Amino acid sequence: MIRANENYQKLQASYLFSDIAQRVALFQKNNPDAQIIRLGIGDVTQALAPAVIAAFHKGVDEMAEDATFKGYGPEQGYGFLREKIAVHDYQARGADISADEIFVSDGAKCDTANFQELFARDIKIAIPDPVYPVYVDTNVMAGRTGVFKDGRYRNVVYMDCLKENSFLPQIPKEPVDLIYLCFPNNPTGTCATKSELAAWVDYARQNKALILFDAAYEAFIRDETLPRSIYEIEGAAKVAVEFRSFSKTAGFTGTRCGFTVVPKDCSVFSDKGEPISLHGLWHRRQSTKFNGVSYPVQKAAEAVYSPEGRTQIKELVASYLDNADIICRTVEDLGFGYAGGKNSPYIWVDGQGRDSWEFFDLLLNRASVVCTPGGGFGRCGNPYIRISAFNSRNNVNLAMERIKEALK
Ligand code: MLT
Repeated sequence: MIRANENYQKLQASYLFSDIAQRVALFQKNNPDAQIIRLGIGDVTQALAPAVIAAFHKGVDEMAEDATFKGYGPEQGYGFLREKIAVHDYQARGADISADEIFVSDGAKCDTANFQELFARDIKIAIPDPVYPVYVDTNVMAGRTGVFKDGRYRNVVYMDCLKENSFLPQIPKEPVDLIYLCFPNNPTGTCATKSELAAWVDYARQNKALILFDAAYEAFIRDETLPRSIYEIEGAAKVAVEFRSFSKTAGFTGTRCGFTVVPKDCSVFSDKGEPISLHGLWHRRQSTKFNGVSYPVQKAAEAVYSPEGRTQIKELVASYLDNADIICRTVEDLGFGYAGGKNSPYIWVDGQGRDSWEFFDLLLNRASVVCTPGGGFGRCGNPYIRISAFNSRNNVNLAMERIKEALK
């Protein structure tokens, strides 16, 4: 008898964004004429930048000739891309990260999901609430949590992110081994300052803990005083892994490319307390389970760092941030409190006591606008909704008009 992984029985029925997609599909079926505007899942809508598309085409053409054709690529990703990442994303900002510490992948979702495989089952994990559900669900699948009760899994240290603490996770009182952080935050859109991140790095160093730092939204940081990478903090390379994505930065949600930085100085520990290279473990894991990102996609990602690519990507990000400004102004005019939207494509709107799924239904039914109910990100996500700025200007303007009308 083939028995199922019992841990999957602990999971909520479906993944948050699948659940929302089903509800929206049902609404569309029942209201075939409704012109739905999607400000729910953070999916980009604008075309890839011209410099990126040109490099993508060139990469495909190279695959068409025996002389330039590529089979399996280097395990960690092509050197041409890893070098550009190291120079532009890290060294240019004073972070001492080298190309051989970078692992190119098909996106931050898979890497943040898979990374926990490297750790013992009985470690203590600390997770913000609200949170990107992938961090929690993958630890549930791995058997690292207890059952789900009263909106939370047992054996997880939740870090409440509330209005009272400016939606910033606080260092837990009990000892923890693995800490998930995400800045600019998904879903709240808040950012951490250098000194706030430095406190986490100190904690991890003192407690032999590890930080998994999700920086998928770093390109949206406008405030130059804010850190874009955890490696801008001294000592972080000893205790932090960083995940990045080209999805939101450069519109790669459908193209798939991201990377994970695992510094060579970073260790985990054996049962006897001896250090083990985390870089070595991740390399072993990836070379066994992953065969890399296609050559044309890596060429397309490399073009993000060309002079034209950088200018075009900046414009792309700026236009989504302008959408975020429009959304912020609207929710403000309507009298709602909110966080995010300044250095982030997400606006975390306080529903003033409304249940977040009810608020979601209200906007869908009265305005045909899709948002994400905060409760889907955790217990502290109620009564908030998350509005995403990823859409065309016309759609964002129209959605805001409809929301104003619906809430009159
Ligand atoms: C989100 O909406 O939170 C993201 O798009 C999900 C993801 O990047 O996987």
